[in-house]
Amino acid sequence: MKNQLRFGKWKFISFIILDLLCLIAANCIAVLLYLKNVSSVSMTGYYRVVIMMVAVDLAVTVSINSLDLVLRRGKSNELLSELKHIGFSFLALSAGLFALKQGRDYSRITVLMAYLFYFLLSILIRTVWKHILQKTAKKNGTAQKFLMTTDAFAEEGIAELKKSDIRPVGVLLLKNSDRDIIEDLSVSADIDEAIASICWNWVDCVYVYGIDYHLIHQSLSKACKEMNVEIKVIFSDFKVIDLKTTRYEEKEYGRLSFVEGKRDIPFPVRRAYWITETEAGLHRGFHAHKLNCQLLFCPYGKIDIILDNGKEKTTVCLNDPGKGMLLMPGLWREMVWKETGSVLCVLASEYYDPQEYIRDYDEFLASKGVIDEHTVC
Ligand code: TYD
Repeated sequence: MKNQLRFGKWKFISFIILDLLCLIAANCIAVLLYLKNVSSVSMTGYYRVVIMMVAVDLAVTVSINSLDLVLRRGKSNELLSELKHIGFSFLALSAGLFALKQGRDYSRITVLMAYLFYFLLSILIRTVWKHILQKTAKKNGTAQKFLMTTDAFAEEGIAELKKSDIRPVGVLLLKNSDRDIIEDLSVSADIDEAIASICWNWVDCVYVYGIDYHLIHQSLSKACKEMNVEIKVIFSDFKVIDLKTTRYEEKEYGRLSFVEGKRDIPFPVRRAYWITETEAGLHRGFHAHKLNCQLLFCPYGKIDIILDNGKEKTTVCLNDPGKGMLLMPGLWREMVWKETGSVLCVLASEYYDPQEYIRDYDEFLASKGVIDEHTVC
């Protein structure tokens, strides 16, 4: 993804050219206004100053990277960046003029006016240009897509997008992973790197797969809002799936069901546990997970799983050993044993970590209502 970012920056050469054109136009306006008030002026001296201004502007643009992430900037960020850029340029130009003993025969006010017009013009032109580029990319279908998911759901998320002929330009994993590439797509677990890639690649939509929406990093949703990038959640709660099951001709052989991690379910199984010797009427659970994805199944008996996403509750009955329930993080769950001796088996994507549980319902509701930094890895 780093290479992609480095080369992607060249796409923004148009912003540099537009900036320089704004600077020249601002100087023309300043000179025209200045000439109205002053009778004699040495234009040759002023040309030299404009050339210096352009050189200083380029140097400042490159050295302080003032066009960095230009597409993702909101209005206030744009103002601040431009103020910083002009502040540096003005200081550098003044130092240059002083050192070269240039520009004595025209008013310093002209330079100040030129910078003021440059400030206004550049903000205006940049905003319009951003808008045009984004609209054109969308219209031509060159706007890219991005996928945000977890290590466990990356392949399934990519496959799901493929069904709609969408090939994302990159994948952001919520949790650190040792993979750099998944199915030829560059992968990052670094939020800033991903935001930069979303920006440089003209991404117009970030798809979220297998992550509770409220676990989406605050800086990602803020950046997407500023860049007019849509966030679409494709799958983030639960699914009842059929488990592969073999039936035998001899009835007494029973049934054999099986699950393979990352083949039948989208995550590698890091942990399995099962609850036995239970009484009917037992209630367990009362927690949500921050990252842990699970497959729940009931090989014997009948258990109700009550799921709560903070807004509504759904009850699913597990009473068939050939069915499993794929559960995403971010769902409050309660299990009710309907028959004595019912067995609940769980395959989990994460090792046991008590920190990864949310056991307080109010904390759970807060995590659903607010995008909370501390809930994200
Ligand atoms: P807990 O998750 O509290 O079960 P429940 O919420 O259904 O009551 O687990 C009970 C105990 O078992 C607790 O002390 C932690 C321990 N435990 C593990 O050590 N590893 C595991 O994978 C699980 C699920 C539980």
